[in-house]
Amino acid sequence: MSKGINSRKVAVIGTGFVGSSSAFALMESGLFTEMVLIDADKNRAEGEALDISHGLPFARPMKIAAGDYDDIVDAAIIVVTAGAGQKPGETRLDLVKKNVAIFKSIIPEIAKRNCKGILLIVANPVDILTQVAVKLSGFPENRVFGSGTTLDSARLKYLLGEHLQVDARSVHAWIIGEHGDSEIVAWSSANVSGVPISEFCEMRGYTKHDEHMEEIAQGVKNSAYKIIEKKKATYYGVAMAVRRICEAIIRDEKSVLPVSSIQHDTYGIEGVTLSMPAIVGKDGIEKQVKIKLNEKEQEALKKSAGALKKVLADLDI
Ligand SMILES: NC(=O)c1ccc[n+]([C@@H]2O[C@H](COP(=O)([O-])OP(=O)(O)OC[C@H]3O[C@@H](n4cnc5c(N)ncnc54)[C@H](O)[C@@H]3O)[C@@H](O)[C@H]2O)c1
Repeated sequence: MSKGINSRKVAVIGTGFVGSSSAFALMESGLFTEMVLIDADKNRAEGEALDISHGLPFARPMKIAAGDYDDIVDAAIIVVTAGAGQKPGETRLDLVKKNVAIFKSIIPEIAKRNCKGILLIVANPVDILTQVAVKLSGFPENRVFGSGTTLDSARLKYLLGEHLQVDARSVHAWIIGEHGDSEIVAWSSANVSGVPISEFCEMRGYTKHDEHMEEIAQGVKNSAYKIIEKKKATYYGVAMAVRRICEAIIRDEKSVLPVSSIQHDTYGIEGVTLSMPAIVGKDGIEKQVKIKLNEKEQEALKKSAGALKKVLADLDI
């Protein structure tokens, strides 16, 4: 972490559903003593700051206030959730133009103050916006990354845990690639506490692997659509993912998390932002961990990168 950084300070830009739930989760985490909330709608940020502060007597003391960009220069982490959300039936990629325009008003404000903290991008489409944030900020790539498929991987673990009647935390499985329709389950490395997933399934009496794998992969992919259809937005799951990533950074845990960053020499993919597990610590991404993929997964990953590359090529950044 650079000099001039307050490692106990976090900023959240965008205090809609995702920003406010993330701020609430961060308050509860006890990781920070100071939190600044910024939103284009200042009243919203002020209201959330007050509401969340009223929970402090049940948690740990900290200062939570609505603020401006001048207030976040020394923040260790700047979480960017500002942007329109998906409407029912809309894909994450449909959001791209609206949210790139919003990023053009936010990221330069951070860059011109030469903030030294880590930019954690959450707004969608998160892979594209992470790449846009790297470009607009000029910050080193390790310091600008997206929550990526951290949420999707949690959904996968949850569904596998339910299916196999085992604690989701004992399931080790990754969703990689785009946080979106072309995401991939890395089945070949999935396991439950070291037992390959298909062996564990058999232990639990399941033998129709292909059918169940497809069902679970679709379940993860359609989670957001399903929730948006029912309650218009998703936010609690992602808030926990934000909390987990912040924890890995602030505590310098060197945790391996499936975050989104510009890939270099990843199964032939170069210069495209997508999710691959990476070691996350106090300086952000320490190292991308190129997990072993079978041929089918490699092909799917290249396809995912190709889809993202096409969107990037159309952007005016
Ligand atoms: N990465 C993930 O896993 C994940 C999960 C869920 C949602 N999301 C994404 O998070 C984003 C936010 O979703 P939401 O449901 O909170 O939306 P929301 O509409 O509730 O909130 C967006 C907030 O951003 C603010 N905003 C807009 N332009 C701004 C600007 N220039 N500066 C500061 N604030 C600005 C708005 O005033 C609003 O309060 C969406 O893009 C959504 O798709 C990501």
